[in-house]
Amino acid sequence: MEFQFLNTIIVCFLALLHFSRNQQSRCATYTMYQKFIGSLHDDRAKPLWEIERESVQSAKYLCVRRCEKDHRCVGIEICTIRPDLSRCRGCCEWYVIDKDGGLPRNATDGCKYFDLSKDGVESRGIRLSANSNVSAVASSTYVHYDTPLLASNVLDGIYGIHCGTSKTYSSVGETNPWIEVTWSGTITIQRIVIYNRADCCGNRLVDLNVTYTNNGVTGICGFYPGLLSRHGDIILIYCPLEAHATSVKLQIQSKPGQLNELNLCEVEIYKKS
Ligand SMILES: *[C@@H]1O[C@H](CO)[C@@H](O)[C@H](O)[C@H]1NC(C)=O
Ligand SMILES: *[C@@H]1O[C@H](CO)[C@@H](O)[C@H](O)[C@H]1NC(C)=O
Ligand SMILES: *[C@@H]1O[C@H](CO)[C@@H](O)[C@H](O)[C@H]1NC(C)=O
Repeated sequence: MEFQFLNTIIVCFLALLHFSRNQQSRCATYTMYQKFIGSLHDDRAKPLWEIERESVQSAKYLCVRRCEKDHRCVGIEICTIRPDLSRCRGCCEWYVIDKDGGLPRNATDGCKYFDLSKDGVESRGIRLSANSNVSAVASSTYVHYDTPLLASNVLDGIYGIHCGTSKTYSSVGETNPWIEVTWSGTITIQRIVIYNRADCCGNRLVDLNVTYTNNGVTGICGFYPGLLSRHGDIILIYCPLEAHATSVKLQIQSKPGQLNELNLCEVEIYKKS
């Protein structure tokens, strides 16, 4: 605990040193906590941007400033590459939380990861409520024995250990399967939370293109390659600020000649608060 506390102070103190007098109070609302020692792994996170500098301090300082201005940024990874080279990356276009909430093992690769408090991140978005008339349609529906695994299962509020096969959405095996979630009115999407299938088959979630639509105009929130997707994973997708939308589409971009099954437990849409 003491170690974590110390690291929190360091980030805040460095920011303070560089902020001009009238900005100092901002530090109090922008505290980061050390979450783990080690780097963000390619298969679990896609950084937003990176900054390289000759010292850890200046990389950290620039990263904190940039993160503060980027509404998608929920954390920073700081690495000492060489004694005279440090790298800092903002997290993330997408980020995967293991079903057991497991953090990466503390590694000795010269990196540390800090993030904003859970409250700080969660207060940025408000979940679309049931009276937003949220609905889902999909490219196809797989029938498991006599039970169709319906698109509406991604909106039933059931995920994790309670998400048995019959509570899952599944497409048939096809090219570029998709599911689209629509609501009434235009919102600015803050994040999309995707709960991977939980009873099996987690590795089917690959090459997922997450796009949004507003009056026929399409934009991209993120692309999740899913190299090591596991059942029960939770994938957070942070959309760009311009993501004003009336619907979101999740589509597997099948490789040539390949058929895919899109399997999900739940999809949650959060609007910017
Ligand atoms: C990694 O280190 C941090 C801080 O020292 C500690 O709180 C955390 O529990 C460790 N995580 C693992 C997975 O060992
Ligand atoms: C709710 O959504 C459905 C399907 O998109 C649509 O047919 C219906 O008119 C909507 N109702 C309201 C109150 O917006
Ligand atoms: C994702 O979908 C968008 C819109 O259809 C498309 O322009 C883009 O190329 C797709 N991305 C990938 C990686 O397939």
